[in-house]
Amino acid sequence: MIQAARPARARIVSTGRFSPPRVVTNHDLESMVETNDEWIRTRTGITERRLADKDTGAADMGAAAARIAMERAGITAADVDILLVSTATPDRLLPSTACDIQALLGSHNAAAYDFASACSGFLYGLSLAEAHIAAGQAKTVLLVCTEKMSSIIDWTDRATCVLFGDGAGAAVIQPAEGDGRGILSGYFKSDGTLAELLYRPGGGARYPLDIAVLDERSHFVKMAGAEVFKSAVRSMCDAAGHALERAGVTGDDVDLLVPHQANIRIIDATAKYAKIPPEKVFVNVDRYGNMSSASIPVALDEAVEQGRAGEGALVLMVAFGAGFTWAANVVRM
Ligand code: UT7
Repeated sequence: MIQAARPARARIVSTGRFSPPRVVTNHDLESMVETNDEWIRTRTGITERRLADKDTGAADMGAAAARIAMERAGITAADVDILLVSTATPDRLLPSTACDIQALLGSHNAAAYDFASACSGFLYGLSLAEAHIAAGQAKTVLLVCTEKMSSIIDWTDRATCVLFGDGAGAAVIQPAEGDGRGILSGYFKSDGTLAELLYRPGGGARYPLDIAVLDERSHFVKMAGAEVFKSAVRSMCDAAGHALERAGVTGDDVDLLVPHQANIRIIDATAKYAKIPPEKVFVNVDRYGNMSSASIPVALDEAVEQGRAGEGALVLMVAFGAGFTWAANVVRM
């Protein structure tokens, strides 16, 4: 899907995030599976992750992040026209987590729906929000990315369980004001022929949950790590290049790269390709692990808080995830 360079139609007005309080370190995982801190740190860059308690759902985390974003935007729940939710871990399969969050927030004027683009969710969501605004369907879109990855991970599989964390990020998106700020370019793509390199085989409509699914543990995430790694590097470089070109800028112009936080080695390769020096790359994978679609909005929110993505900053965001899906946006904050 292609968008040409043009004046911004929508802008990110504010962001918010939620992290569960419970910190689980690499050392904690050593007692659960055959792994060690050194392997996890050198292969992924992860030191610790936050995991939600049993009683905390994806909707709870999403609503908490959304409340902060709404407060910073100076809006109330009633101002939200469309509530978009990206999640690979819905609390229930029916209805959508978006409707659960809509109820928690009391955003009674909002249309609400989930979409599933895995780790690329925040960037797919930016394009959805922009399209709704450009179509005149919304003045205020609330985009929430919430992931309780711990609920779909096989805690006996060391190849995946050490990689993920739980959390939520949110953004309020409204029409651009013609001052140069806003979403300057977008690029988002998919390749479903590679779906089985990163997926949950069982528990859906094709193989509904039954004893065999449980025995095979096929309702948990399965990943061919090395193949996914190669595709991630290739796709994130592809997306970064296209988004920069469509915005009419180069890596030199970028103030901050906010990449998906799956693996520090993927982040480094993407930054190198886009010619963005390490000091302009936001990294928090060490503290959170991979929170799927929540990774980028949590990172963006931290970057804003730290003054690294302040008003007027040119930010490049790049993501890759299950599907496969990949995407990039250039945004003037
Ligand atoms: O969110 C988007 C999707 N996800 C990603 O982007 C993740 C992409 N993939 C990766 O980040 C990396 O491929 C991993 C971090 C998952 C794995 O790193 P790798 O360098 O590709 O390692 P590998 O899978 O090739 O495994 C190397 C070795 C294997 O042992 P042998 O066969 O060489 O003896 C694994 O069994 O490391 C072993 N291993 C572990 N050892 C200790 C795998 N997981 C672990 C572990 N602790 N947790």
